[in-house]
Amino acid sequence: MRLTGKTALVTGSSQGIGEAVALRLAADGADVVIHYRSHPESAQDVVKRIATLGRRAVAIQADLSRAAEAQRLIADGVTRLGPLDILVNNAGVEKHADFWDVSEGDYDFVMDVNLKGVFFTTQTFVRHLLATKRPGKIINMSSVHEELPFPRFTPYSMSKGGLKMMTRTLAIELAPFGITVNSIAPGAIETPINRTLLNNPEKLRALLDNIPLKRMGTPVDIAGVAAFLASGDADYITGATIVADGGLLWNYDEQ
Ligand code: BGC
Repeated sequence: MRLTGKTALVTGSSQGIGEAVALRLAADGADVVIHYRSHPESAQDVVKRIATLGRRAVAIQADLSRAAEAQRLIADGVTRLGPLDILVNNAGVEKHADFWDVSEGDYDFVMDVNLKGVFFTTQTFVRHLLATKRPGKIINMSSVHEELPFPRFTPYSMSKGGLKMMTRTLAIELAPFGITVNSIAPGAIETPINRTLLNNPEKLRALLDNIPLKRMGTPVDIAGVAAFLASGDADYITGATIVADGGLLWNYDEQ
């Protein structure tokens, strides 16, 4: 198995894409730190399912919008499962609002989780790798909206655009240490972040019209990409974004 002997931290892995990524990394041989903010039972359930795969897992709560919490998460993860090799910055949030209605609280929430949280989780992970003199892999869960405008989700789009530049910049700065940094840009995936959309047949139909493969993606579609980027098969890839969106981002056709 291609991740045997590796230990991964997947943020936001009690549900959605993060859950599928954690299970897939474990299926490929890794031990996994499950991070969650507000769903302890789901996190414990993921831990149990990883145990049945014969791998070790622990669930740790943290509010990643605060740097000190990100630092504690990594420290606890290392204490409980040993040195980390792989970080998947998956936790992310979005808020739907017209630009003129966005509150300061919602703006801060999206930016603090999607950008500041990723920044300080990654910083702590990198300090850990440097201190233990080991290479590592960082995988950021971005979105097609690191490129594609997303009206009524301006802070979200800004956060993903920022994440794109974090991936590119850190890829260069960390390359001398054998640390690779890549992003995955999912399109429309069936997860809790999309609950409103999934429950609205009209919105759903409009969305599917924009997707050349004519279906939403599943968390498993994304997990396979993360497992590849976490593996030795991706050793020569850094600073890249792999788009997994059924063709959504570059969809254009003229009859
Ligand atoms: C967002 C979803 C959206 C999808 C496609 C994702 O990044 O989280 O809300 O449906 O992009 O637009």
